[in-house]
Amino acid sequence: MTVAKKVSVIGAGAIGAMFGGLIKHHQPETEVVLIARGDHGREMQQRGIVSLRGSWGQRDVPITASSDPAAVAGSDLILFTVKTQDTVATATQFADWIGDAIVVSLQNGINQHLLAPIVREENLLVGMTATNMSIDQPGVVTCNRSGVSVIGPASKRVTGATLDLANRTLAASQLPIEISDRILGAQYNKLLLNTMGYASVLSATDFLREGILDRDWRNQVALPILDEGLRVLAAANRSIERVGGMSDVFRFRRMLRTFNLPGFQVLVRNVLRGPLRLPSLKYSVYQDLMRNRPTEIDYVNGEVVRLANECHIDAPLNAEVVRLVHELESVDDVTFFSRREITERFRTVAGC
Ligand SMILES: NC(=O)c1ccc[n+]([C@@H]2O[C@H](COP(=O)([O-])OP(=O)(O)OC[C@H]3O[C@@H](n4cnc5c(N)ncnc54)[C@H](OP(=O)(O)O)[C@@H]3O)[C@@H](O)[C@H]2O)c1
Repeated sequence: MTVAKKVSVIGAGAIGAMFGGLIKHHQPETEVVLIARGDHGREMQQRGIVSLRGSWGQRDVPITASSDPAAVAGSDLILFTVKTQDTVATATQFADWIGDAIVVSLQNGINQHLLAPIVREENLLVGMTATNMSIDQPGVVTCNRSGVSVIGPASKRVTGATLDLANRTLAASQLPIEISDRILGAQYNKLLLNTMGYASVLSATDFLREGILDRDWRNQVALPILDEGLRVLAAANRSIERVGGMSDVFRFRRMLRTFNLPGFQVLVRNVLRGPLRLPSLKYSVYQDLMRNRPTEIDYVNGEVVRLANECHIDAPLNAEVVRLVHELESVDDVTFFSRREITERFRTVAGC
């Protein structure tokens, strides 16, 4: 078997429906089941189609969609893509049908300890994805950025054959997949990038096209949050695994610092907004706030705060992001802060 014969996606929202849909499109002989709910799930179920938009235009992929946990029975591979706050409840709901399937969690935050009590140790893989997907309307998913996804074993009991099958199956999507045996470090790499991205959501700022190109926001918000996260991870003895391209947190930090060099700001603005045409990222925290849903903030910036508490040190900037996102979550009609308000607030919190 070169790729899994039956693939189920538990939580086929933006990420899951895109991966599952692309696997089905490029590998039609694979049985793919998308588990989803709400308007999005109903739309896919009624039409029997998931619409995938990206650099390829639009593809309408015939698909099996369901909300019934029994539909995942007999899967060789399960892609687990619910939001982190839904991990335990959903895994528990599906536990009886997971069976011997390889489970690959492609979620933000650190989920292995949440899934470990439910998924067999030798079958659990976790990962991080630098792709960016959004549900633009029920049943229609857009790939805003097709960055690399890295997966790896959650424990030493995962065999090379299991890893190989997972790699081949996800690679059938034709999205870039890498394997890492130091996956926790790769997850922390992504988590730190997200701590800045999620801060940009506070002012509904487009992280790449506006945030990092704004000198004040870059120097008062992005770089200090990243430096704080790096300091906390070092104190907590969490190593960071380097990944390819600009998704590498150290390369990203160097790039932000380079933007401060005289003359670079204008050059960078012209190049990044012009020929390079940076993607417009729609962070899941933004998508959740717009849908009046709880966000994953406690598992991203909140993870930095948790580690800081463990080490008896402070992480005031990440704590402020968590606090402000919860403030936005608590109102029905979300009004974002202005970028200037956020910059001023962070200057105050940092005490400078
Ligand atoms: N979107 C991105 O670009 C991106 C990029 C990198 C990483 N990630 C990470 O990938 C993970 C998935 O993100 P996402 O943006 O794809 O989230 P999403 O669009 O909210 O997809 C998750 C889906 O799972 C559904 N779901 C949750 N519990 C369920 C259950 N018990 N039964 C059936 N369906 C259930 C949700 O339905 P409801 O909406 O009704 O809850 C939702 O449709 C997150 O950890 C996110 O941080 C996302």
